[in-house]
Amino acid sequence: MSLIGAATAVGTTTLYLCLCLLYLSIAVDAYTPIDNFTISCGFDGISFDGDQTWTGDMRSKLFQQDKPSVTARALAQSSSTNSVPYTTARLSYSNFTYSFPVTPGQKFIRLYFYPTSYEQGFERSKAFFTVTSNTFTLLRDFNASLNADAQSSDTVFIEYIINVEEGQRLNLTFAPSAIQSELYAFINGIEILSMPTNLYYTDSQNKAGLKLVAYTNSFFSISNNSALRKEYRFNVGGNDISPRDDTGMLRSWENDQNYVTSPSALPVDINSTQLSFTLVPNYTAPDPVYRTVRSMGMNATLNKISNLTWKFPVDSGFIYMLRLHFCELDTKVIQLSDKVFYIYIDDKLAEETANVLKWSEGQKGVPVYKDYAVQILGNEKKHSLSLKLHPQTEITDYTAYFDAFLNGLEIFRISDPQSNSLAGPNPDPLPPAPAVSQQPIQNQKKSSSRTVIGVVAGVITGVVLLFLVVAFFLDRHGRKVKHAMSEAGKSKWAPSYFPTTKSTHTRRSSSFPSDLCLYFSISEIRAATNNFDDVFKVGVGGFGNVYKGYIDNNTAPVAIKRLKPGSQQGAHEFKTEIEMLSQLRHLHLVSLIGYCNENQEMILVYDYMARGTLRDHIYGTDNPPLSWKQRLQICIGAAQGLHYLHAGAMHNIIHRDVKSTNILLDEKWIAKVSDFGLARVGPTGISRSHITTMVKGSFGYLDPEYYIRQRLTLKSDVYAFGVVLLEVLCGRPPFLRSVEKQEACLDEWVRKFHSEGKIDHTVDPSLKGTIAPESLKKFSDLAMECLLDDGNQRPSMNEVVWGLEFALKLQESAENTTFNLQDQR
Ligand SMILES: *[C@@H]1O[C@H](CO)[C@@H](O)[C@H](O)[C@H]1NC(C)=O
Ligand SMILES: *[C@@H]1O[C@H](CO)[C@@H](O)[C@H](O)[C@H]1NC(C)=O
Ligand SMILES: *[C@@H]1O[C@H](CO)[C@@H](O)[C@H](O)[C@H]1NC(C)=O
Ligand SMILES: *[C@@H]1O[C@H](CO)[C@@H](O)[C@H](O)[C@H]1NC(C)=O
Ligand SMILES: *[C@@H]1O[C@H](CO)[C@@H](O)[C@H](O)[C@H]1NC(C)=O
Ligand SMILES: *[C@@H]1O[C@H](CO)[C@@H](O)[C@H](O)[C@H]1NC(C)=O
Ligand SMILES: *[C@@H]1O[C@H](CO)[C@@H](O)[C@H](O)[C@H]1NC(C)=O
Ligand SMILES: *[C@@H]1O[C@H](CO)[C@@H](O)[C@H](O)[C@H]1NC(C)=O
Ligand SMILES: *[C@@H]1O[C@H](CO)[C@@H](O)[C@H](O)[C@H]1NC(C)=O
Repeated sequence: MSLIGAATAVGTTTLYLCLCLLYLSIAVDAYTPIDNFTISCGFDGISFDGDQTWTGDMRSKLFQQDKPSVTARALAQSSSTNSVPYTTARLSYSNFTYSFPVTPGQKFIRLYFYPTSYEQGFERSKAFFTVTSNTFTLLRDFNASLNADAQSSDTVFIEYIINVEEGQRLNLTFAPSAIQSELYAFINGIEILSMPTNLYYTDSQNKAGLKLVAYTNSFFSISNNSALRKEYRFNVGGNDISPRDDTGMLRSWENDQNYVTSPSALPVDINSTQLSFTLVPNYTAPDPVYRTVRSMGMNATLNKISNLTWKFPVDSGFIYMLRLHFCELDTKVIQLSDKVFYIYIDDKLAEETANVLKWSEGQKGVPVYKDYAVQILGNEKKHSLSLKLHPQTEITDYTAYFDAFLNGLEIFRISDPQSNSLAGPNPDPLPPAPAVSQQPIQNQKKSSSRTVIGVVAGVITGVVLLFLVVAFFLDRHGRKVKHAMSEAGKSKWAPSYFPTTKSTHTRRSSSFPSDLCLYFSISEIRAATNNFDDVFKVGVGGFGNVYKGYIDNNTAPVAIKRLKPGSQQGAHEFKTEIEMLSQLRHLHLVSLIGYCNENQEMILVYDYMARGTLRDHIYGTDNPPLSWKQRLQICIGAAQGLHYLHAGAMHNIIHRDVKSTNILLDEKWIAKVSDFGLARVGPTGISRSHITTMVKGSFGYLDPEYYIRQRLTLKSDVYAFGVVLLEVLCGRPPFLRSVEKQEACLDEWVRKFHSEGKIDHTVDPSLKGTIAPESLKKFSDLAMECLLDDGNQRPSMNEVVWGLEFALKLQESAENTTFNLQDQR
């Protein structure tokens, strides 16, 4: 939720004191799990994904089976999914079991599924199975692909909680369904984690249990004989909280925005220096949950008040537990009677006089939570469970402020006591949507694989949009920018370089290069973009928007890239981009003018690139086609930029996201390589030729060595650049969904014609007859060399530069002779 929105709202309603610079933090005792397994299935080795260390199950004794299961790799992987645990899986046509030696007590079980087609003939649609754990059924006849599609996600992540008795192991059995032949079961990742005793279960000695909604004086206990399945977990009114920032239990907390249905629900940041934990244990929820609220957002008059409403789809036939987290921080609230409200759950009155200040024993800034149980009966498959808050109005002089609020919310499904099952039905199949793709938008990558990634429905336009995204930047020539250094701003974070790196050899400490890169205040950025006016917007993407703005007394156009606030991944890429670009100066790299990191905003300022992306000029637009010589010159420039990264700069830097939309053009058609958010410092020292890392990059450009073996080398960029060369030659994208299979993948399609000596069949029609045959041969041979499977055999970027310059010379000399190019037709 944008802070501007919150700030204006607060300005007008004076509800809460909004804190824009929220850098306070209270030391919170985190929980340390005793049992802690993070297993990547079908994987042999250890891999760190930035959040946690995944251990392969291949050599582990955790694994038993009735008949052999197999391990296999995904045939293709969307770029939105992390390579660990999703590239590999354990799969079987018969039952298999993992058996974990754990201490007695309550445990989180987290299951990671990536429904896709796997090697050895495991088809995506044939994954259909039951999962049991000790006495509980977690999933029954689970159609993995259907569930992923229904969530518009590539992956399915489910969290359970069960209790393990003294002397028991924790078993997880995967059993293919027998309703049809050739169905199989699979799993990509398993996480088992201890949790504090009775964090969610009922301590029957000390507590009455959960208030059962709609029954007077009825209470419901969650005993050790029950299991739970997490349905929702929200940081209400705040940003997503990644597992790493939880209180040691690796839970992720999401923003609730998509579930709010009432219009007046405002999210608000609170200046909460007073926050202290006394009533709830410190680990109950991470600190930021209690620092943001969603409230009615107005001192409404009686007749104008509506319910503050959320709606959550859930399966019918279960009892659900709702945990509501509160923390009263409203400066106006002083007396116990100041803010009293109703709570309705599923349209039934759950609380008539919710009074947070009273619950926290009159102390402000003290977190509390309230648990409720609600039974969802009925025949409908999916039920829309509502939560509504409403100020007390019956007794008009009772509550001083007509307001209601919520800080956090968790919803769990409770296992059916008869069947011990938590399994619900499969969702209804989606109507056939021609464009639903498994290769979603690259910019939606998340660092946390457990976050369900929503794939924009019309992915076909998404793919186009994605590539529109990165249009901005450059010209490093003496742009005189107003000096806007702010000492305060510069030291806001001490960058920890490359937190996703597994070992130390690529880590280096570095402070912000403030001498090379300017700091802008948020007010300067606002002034330059007329407060982020849509009129100035020139690009949109998963990371946020790009605006064209003016600095230097409105004379110099700049591209202003505003990252979405709150994303861990975004914050990391933001730092990387500043670190990299501010130290690199080259005619063929975009120049970073400065940045702004204030009010939780992450903004990058580049020189404006008048002609947009290379792709904008080779296909899919109305721009006039470029001549062959222009194309060669652009390719040479881009290759020189990459060569500088690989060999010329202080470090050998791997760009990792070379593609035709990351090559930008200035008004003089000079090519500039852009977007260093994924760039990595490459291997150093003679002994190292590659680094192992999780796979990132863009679909269609991924080096097979990198993609299959996680071996990232300088030659991974050479491969991607080879794809760009083919795009330039053929005037089409790396991947075409709409055509015959053998034509869909640009690389394979060209390779076929090249091997048959018919490369001219693939040439962009607008170039036909204009390319000298020698030039074409040199160029296409070079491109094919860049695309060789074995990275060692690919040319270096320097050799690519030479090859392209040679192709240009051949073209020029052909044009200077009497050779009649038209004869080619
Ligand atoms: C936040 O509250 C503290 C203590 O009440 C106060 O000193 C500080 O100025 C406040 N910060 C803002 C930005 O309002
Ligand atoms: C789990 O154990 C590993 C070491 O085995 C440790 O690095 C990691 O931090 C632990 N996770 C949690 C949540 O404590
Ligand atoms: C549930 O089991 C845990 C340990 O397994 C125990 O500490 C706890 O007291 C039990 N709870 C109840 C209500 O029996
Ligand atoms: C778990 O599996 C082991 C080995 O198959 C078995 O001996 C044990 O009884 C199982 N435990 C539970 C709780 O099902
Ligand atoms: C599972 O769902 C897919 C659609 O994603 C469907 O094609 C397939 O037939 C379903 N499998 C079974 C066994 O019903
Ligand atoms: C596999 O597991 C299912 C469900 O747990 C069970 O019904 C079936 O008997 C098991 N099959 C074998 C061969 O053990
Ligand atoms: C929570 O943490 C604070 C600060 O570390 C500590 O003073 C307090 O005792 C803790 N409270 C509980 C209930 O653990
Ligand atoms: C809210 O409305 C009541 C009744 O009109 C008024 O007395 C009170 O001052 C208002 N409070 C605020 C903060 O505006
Ligand atoms: C708020 O929701 C409750 C429960 O659904 C309903 O009874 C009540 O009429 C609603 N109030 C308003 C003002 O909409």
